[in-house]
Amino acid sequence: MKYEMVNYKLGMFLLIFLRIHASSSKPNVVILFADDVGYGDLGCYGHPTSFTPNLNKMAEDGLLLTSFYSAANLCSPSRAALLTGRYQIRSGIYPFVLSPDSTGGLPRNETTIAQILKNQGYRTAMIGKWDLGIGKDLVHFPTNYGFERYFGIPYVHGACPCEKCFYPNVGCQWSVFGGDKCGFDNTYCPIFQDTKITQQPADLMTLMEDYSSFARDFISQSAREGSPFFLYYAFNHCHFPQFAGKRFRNFTERGIYGDSLAEIDWSVGQVIDQLRENGIENNTFVFFTSDNGAALRDMYYGGSSGMLKCGKATTYEGGHRVPAIAYWPGQISPGQRSPEFTTTLDLLPTITKLGGGSLPKVTIDGMDMSSVLFQQSKSPRDSMFYYSAFPEQKIGAYAVRYKNFKAHYYTEGSPQSGMYNPDADCHPNNTVKHNPPLLFDLNEDPGELYNLNMKSQYASILLDIDKLKIKFEAAMTWGTSQVNKPKDRRLEPCCKPGCDPFPSCCRCD
Ligand SMILES: *[C@@H]1O[C@H](CO)[C@@H](O)[C@H](O)[C@H]1NC(C)=O
Ligand SMILES: *[C@@H]1O[C@H](CO)[C@@H](O)[C@H](O)[C@H]1NC(C)=O
Ligand SMILES: *[C@@H]1O[C@H](CO)[C@@H](O)[C@H](O)[C@H]1NC(C)=O
Ligand SMILES: *[C@@H]1O[C@H](CO)[C@@H](O)[C@H](O)[C@H]1NC(C)=O
Repeated sequence: MKYEMVNYKLGMFLLIFLRIHASSSKPNVVILFADDVGYGDLGCYGHPTSFTPNLNKMAEDGLLLTSFYSAANLCSPSRAALLTGRYQIRSGIYPFVLSPDSTGGLPRNETTIAQILKNQGYRTAMIGKWDLGIGKDLVHFPTNYGFERYFGIPYVHGACPCEKCFYPNVGCQWSVFGGDKCGFDNTYCPIFQDTKITQQPADLMTLMEDYSSFARDFISQSAREGSPFFLYYAFNHCHFPQFAGKRFRNFTERGIYGDSLAEIDWSVGQVIDQLRENGIENNTFVFFTSDNGAALRDMYYGGSSGMLKCGKATTYEGGHRVPAIAYWPGQISPGQRSPEFTTTLDLLPTITKLGGGSLPKVTIDGMDMSSVLFQQSKSPRDSMFYYSAFPEQKIGAYAVRYKNFKAHYYTEGSPQSGMYNPDADCHPNNTVKHNPPLLFDLNEDPGELYNLNMKSQYASILLDIDKLKIKFEAAMTWGTSQVNKPKDRRLEPCCKPGCDPFPSCCRCD
């Protein structure tokens, strides 16, 4: 008995000691994850009319990456890859995306950045678009994956009958051509606070203010407690339909997409301000990026791929290469631009090292990118595999980047990249197999305009890439598709479970 008491006291002492020790040495981590923001959308990436002063400032005072990739070209798979450091096909987050009525979701045995940091004594929270399933009894909810706190609409707001997107009473423009309300017959968008629905229908006019307040509260509470924290803030902006609060209505020269992007920028400013107010800016690693390239289907209501080819849901550069800014005063030298090759997969190993944890004992596709972030030196990465929005095991990767070269074994457009795109390669239903693969030098030709595969001096590069692909695919284990699991409409979040008539009765008022 006595022995146990001593042990208990020792345990408590160790716990307190670890927390104090943790707080004095472990940096906070904030990931800001935008939706469908393309390579050409931010002011600091050259857009002439976007209004992004806070992101531009982050880049001026930090590091702007010009060859940073999302591992996937769509919402759900890109989030799975970022949070697990593993290609989305390993966790089964394919084909396409999960929906509010999915029974599947991120498998519970996957380990996320949040779990790793929580085990290292971090307070953890997530805001916004989770998109990795909900499931029966919230089995796939973020709070089951290492996030102690959650706040937001856990999937795309376009999956709800969202009715009002701009002040004072402007309907939601689902697409340039497709009417003025969202397309689906689902329950109204819910706002969850932790595991409880606090608002349904969600008010999109005030969503960003509410997200920002939650972020500020979480940061200041953690700072007051002296605890290191991890905040994963996944914006619902700038996925279609575009929306923004009163302050940002008609705010930019760039139209409704610009207004929505300006609201993200404002919220990024809120987060940085709060870090500064709490005096913890110099102890916080902040990383901003996007889940995939621009949704070009929406033409002037959508994002921009800049100089890159096609966009969302394609394996061209416009689908995967995204803006990325790293910010940490004192640790990341200001005013840098780096063309080093890095990806969302690399955040898990990099952050695990910052937080002092060890990597999960599974295949991790990410690589520690600290050298690029903190030492202005080379990336350890030399390859990435691009998978179709509808990947199939018998086909494998559509494209491979190896060093500065990229080989396309298959190309395919997508409705997401534009039925009306002036570049016909981006159009849907044009899957083409290439043998030999198309080959581009991404340093000389980031726009993938000039195929080199018939030039004899590139034959050995093509062979190297072939070997790399065969080896990688032979070792790849595909997870069972979570998206293809049955759907159940009664799993759609509902403020009055079991009510009638479903789904319109699902309201909190
Ligand atoms: C999770 O469990 C499934 C089913 O047993 C298994 O196939 C998969 O490899 C596991 N994943 C991890 C990351 O352990
Ligand atoms: C915003 O601009 C649109 C289009 O020019 C105009 O119809 C609308 O009245 C403006 N709204 C506000 C709140 O100024
Ligand atoms: C944070 O770091 C920057 C750059 O090293 C330095 O100029 C500034 O004084 C530091 N701020 C605080 C509050 O320590
Ligand atoms: C593309 O193919 C799909 C599935 O076969 C079909 O439903 C769709 O209508 C086609 N789209 C076009 C633009 O032809």
